[in-house]
Amino acid sequence: MNNFQFYSPTEFIFGRETENKAGHYVKKHGGSSVLLHFGGGSAVKSGLLGRVKASLEAEGIAYTELGGVKPNPRDTLVYKGIDICRENNIDFILAVGGGSVIDSAKAIAMGVPYDGDFWDFYSGKDPEAALPVATVLTIAAAGSEGSGDSVITKEEGGLKRGAGSDLIRPRFSILNPELTCTLPAYQTACGATDIMAHVFERYFTNTTEVEITDRLCEAVLMTMIKETPRVIADPANYDARANIMWAGMVAHNNIVGVGREQDWNSHGIEHELSALYDCAHGAGLAVIMPAWMEFVYKHDIMRFAQAATRIWGCKMDFAAPENTAREGIIRFRRFLRDIGMPLTFDELGAKTDDIPALVDKFGLGDGRTGGFVKLSSEDIASIYRIAADPKLI
Ligand code: NZQ
Ligand code: ZN
Repeated sequence: MNNFQFYSPTEFIFGRETENKAGHYVKKHGGSSVLLHFGGGSAVKSGLLGRVKASLEAEGIAYTELGGVKPNPRDTLVYKGIDICRENNIDFILAVGGGSVIDSAKAIAMGVPYDGDFWDFYSGKDPEAALPVATVLTIAAAGSEGSGDSVITKEEGGLKRGAGSDLIRPRFSILNPELTCTLPAYQTACGATDIMAHVFERYFTNTTEVEITDRLCEAVLMTMIKETPRVIADPANYDARANIMWAGMVAHNNIVGVGREQDWNSHGIEHELSALYDCAHGAGLAVIMPAWMEFVYKHDIMRFAQAATRIWGCKMDFAAPENTAREGIIRFRRFLRDIGMPLTFDELGAKTDDIPALVDKFGLGDGRTGGFVKLSSEDIASIYRIAADPKLI
């Protein structure tokens, strides 16, 4: 196992009706003037925003509203948010929504105390300060409620890029599984795919002797395999929603990934798709991650065979483990198909003609990237081509 540091300062408040405590926790964490940040309307329609506002008012906390965050959140709203925070002496940002709202809140949080362009943090610079951020989560997916990451799309040029810092880990996150019951089945499935992808990015590693994190990864994946079809069939199933919501946090605050090399190429390759086509990140991953697996599995057949047997319950073919490895990838695609995810470029609405542009935007040039298998630009093009025409399906 590799050396590691693990810092997860977020206070989680989990369960029914916990959004009514938002004001209490803002006060506890030092907020007195809040930017209330939300998305395109689901939180307004469900009455959630009203309840959060009432709880802030009950604590005497002033707030300024900024809604309108789109999925795949844009830089333009971040600039607006930074201006609003400065004008109103905001000292705390409360994101009410999914990964997109939370990521936009994190970007604003880094931008407010910074003299330069906040995009610098999405181009490799480390922030030195950030306003405190907290969340009321409405979709189990990105894991941003417990992560130090944020992903923003620059409208000009359609660049989707990530920033990471412990400074933007949420101070608290309110996780009420009931809030996710209004999600359409497609968004639920996109979220489930993202959660599983966060684990697979960590599971496929060259680091040996990492039994504890292997087993934690398997637990999260097997939970998702059991619970996702339950909520698709019965959207109001609180217990299934609750298990998925916590799995989404555990999948991405890095507790399942410490001490091991991680890959993350599927995410980078997918981000170009959601930047170009504005598709849901989870749907893009359903197309890309199995394609990536199909491309790399020969690098470590036994690890893929282990995944197939332990996670998907495949029978080990001791004479030809490669068959078991391949069967695991087929089972993953079958699962994604069953929960309503696209599996191919066509089904996602992506075009093979765009592959050169996608590779170009990825921006790797002659370099290589990835923790499990180091990919070249040509390899990435091959993965897009597999995604257009998968074989292990
Ligand atoms: O805008 P509203 O009206 O709220 O609608 C949203 C949105 O259309 C809707 N929604 C959310 N909660 C709902 C609901 N509809 C009904 N009932 C509810 N309870 O769902 C749609 C998708 O929301 P979004 O926030 O975009 O979803 P998600 O949480 O999947 O976030 C996706 C973004 O996170 C990034 C992705 O790239 C993408 O931009 N990621 C962020 C990460 C991080 N910060 O750590 C890691 C991830 O790998 C990911 O890249
Ligand atoms: Zn993701």
